[in-house]
Amino acid sequence: MSKRVLITGHNGYIGSVVSPHLAAAGYEVIGLDTGFFGECSLVPDLGLVGTIKKDIRDLTPADVAGVYAVIHLAALSNDPIGNLNDGWTEEINFKATVKLAELAKAAGVDRFLFSSSCIMYGASNAEVVTEESPLDPKTEYARSKVKAERALYELADERFSPVYIRNGTIYGVSPRMRFDTVLNDLVGRATTTGKVVVYSDGKPWRPVMHVQDVARYFQLFLDAPKGKIHNQAFNSGANDLNHQIIELAQIAVATVPGAQLEMQPQPGADQRTYKADFGKFARTFPDFKFKWNVRTGAAELYATYKKAGLTLADFTDKKFTRLKWLHYLLDSGRLDGSLRWKTN
Ligand SMILES: NC(=O)c1ccc[n+]([C@@H]2O[C@H](COP(=O)([O-])OP(=O)(O)OC[C@H]3O[C@@H](n4cnc5c(N)ncnc54)[C@H](O)[C@@H]3O)[C@@H](O)[C@H]2O)c1
Repeated sequence: MSKRVLITGHNGYIGSVVSPHLAAAGYEVIGLDTGFFGECSLVPDLGLVGTIKKDIRDLTPADVAGVYAVIHLAALSNDPIGNLNDGWTEEINFKATVKLAELAKAAGVDRFLFSSSCIMYGASNAEVVTEESPLDPKTEYARSKVKAERALYELADERFSPVYIRNGTIYGVSPRMRFDTVLNDLVGRATTTGKVVVYSDGKPWRPVMHVQDVARYFQLFLDAPKGKIHNQAFNSGANDLNHQIIELAQIAVATVPGAQLEMQPQPGADQRTYKADFGKFARTFPDFKFKWNVRTGAAELYATYKKAGLTLADFTDKKFTRLKWLHYLLDSGRLDGSLRWKTN
């Protein structure tokens, strides 16, 4: 009998790739999402899974009954959204995560994969950050991930195994596309304006992983012997997937015929930097190979943007930038002051 996996946030950027991937791998996938971005599709869905349309702040024991594992992706998913309203990030990213984990543990769920982030290391001066490096969360979003990890850590026992999957910055084509992550953005700019402008000095580091490789490593954590992952954090990625912004920009312009690179360093530009050490991931999963790199990923993005006929208006449309879209839903009265749907 196939194992049932509940994926929260299955309708988002990562979820709409992870969910069909796991369904194709033979898991019984149930998606749970309030559907903030249900209307924000760039390409058709990759496959449908059973769904529960619900806010994660309203979960009940029935939502986790009979589930083998929870993959918890639902969150307000980046720094600017965290700045929109601290209270929402606290409630959704932290409090609802703890409640979900408590319900899961009580229901006998075996493992809980938490989609965390390397952003929690802050703008680190360390050469590279390992899982043991001090955490220095600078934003409400990053703090919510740290607090959630700590609370989950306390819930772990011999029957309940949380694991903290610290992702880098994810790129690649997804039905629920985001242009607010770095490589998707750079290739989009090169495609729709013919140029990429770098406002920092280009030196900050980012670990960047393709969303399909992310789907494959979530499966790895589902299938791994419990003893290898129980209650542990993993920087998830590979050392050769750390890149400086300038390299990403150069690859973006090299991918798009005729595109130019412009350096316009500005005071106050985004100088957040983090170069992650992925040695623990490699030692734990020595057979896992990342299939994508920035060059192949940029080529895929460009081909998809061309095929979709992406214009500058589409690229800057609210649908593909999480913060803009939530603003729109609030301003048009579809979401209320607690970030819940007013109707349905
Ligand atoms: N995309 C990245 O580069 C990246 C990097 C590191 C970590 N992460 C983490 O991975 C997870 C998924 O990221 P993503 O890029 O797919 O984000 P996303 O914004 O595209 O998707 C998040 C999904 O969660 C849902 N959601 C949000 N609040 C909810 C609520 N209260 N109830 C029910 N559903 C709710 C949204 O409707 C959306 O479908 C997040 O936890 C994010 O912090 C993402």
